[in-house]
Amino acid sequence: MADKDDRNFPGHIGIIMDGNGRWAEKRGLARIIGHRAGMKAVEEIVDRASGLGIKYLSLYAFSTENWRRTPIEIDGLRELFRIYLMNKVEKMRSRGVRIRFAGRVDAFGPDITKSARDAEEYTKNNAKLTVVFCVNYGGRQEIVDAVNNLLSERVEGPVTEEALRSRMYLPDVPDPDLLIRTGGELRMSNFLLWESAYSEYYFTDMYWPDFNGEELEKAVLDYSRRERRYGVA
Ligand code: FPP
Repeated sequence: MADKDDRNFPGHIGIIMDGNGRWAEKRGLARIIGHRAGMKAVEEIVDRASGLGIKYLSLYAFSTENWRRTPIEIDGLRELFRIYLMNKVEKMRSRGVRIRFAGRVDAFGPDITKSARDAEEYTKNNAKLTVVFCVNYGGRQEIVDAVNNLLSERVEGPVTEEALRSRMYLPDVPDPDLLIRTGGELRMSNFLLWESAYSEYYFTDMYWPDFNGEELEKAVLDYSRRERRYGVA
């Protein structure tokens, strides 16, 4: 495993947790069962990330495009978020995890919004690992929101990169070093568009419910062997 003092250790990992539906369909089960198994994988990966010394983990739990899914699936996911927020926050807090949200969570209704805000408040003094749940998140939406913030603040042009950066959803969170996508697709699907300008990508065919601590370590090891140049020759 990579030495975490090594500059090649990823401080921030983002994950597109894809393949829950196919994992379930392959077993003749309803898609929501795949999402439930995906929730278990989330727990394992949070634990392992914390054990490895990763400081930030951003998890793409629901995109702005996911509203096009069937009402049954959307309701099922809403229920899983509710269950997670009800049952797992205490454990996360006791393990030094800080919970944060990126995206327009309020679209999931007042109870989820309140639980999400309470979880953020309840864990805000933790610093071991920050888990960012990207819920009703879209990278383009985030940039549009940042521009609208600038406009409403009547900021005078020309607009700088720094001015825009500071109006992203979580400007104090460093850009992701490594972005992982499970489920075999080779695309970014509107995830952290602004923040991923220099991120390294890691793709695996494995469906998200099968992704485990060992696989996370494999991705981290793969990352640690890369040379990041940030556009410099
Ligand atoms: C993508 O798989 C996954 C999602 C849209 C939802 C992610 C949700 C979870 C991992 C479970 C809940 C998480 C928390 C934090 C409580 P897909 O459905 O697109 O899979 P497919 O491509 O095989 O259809």
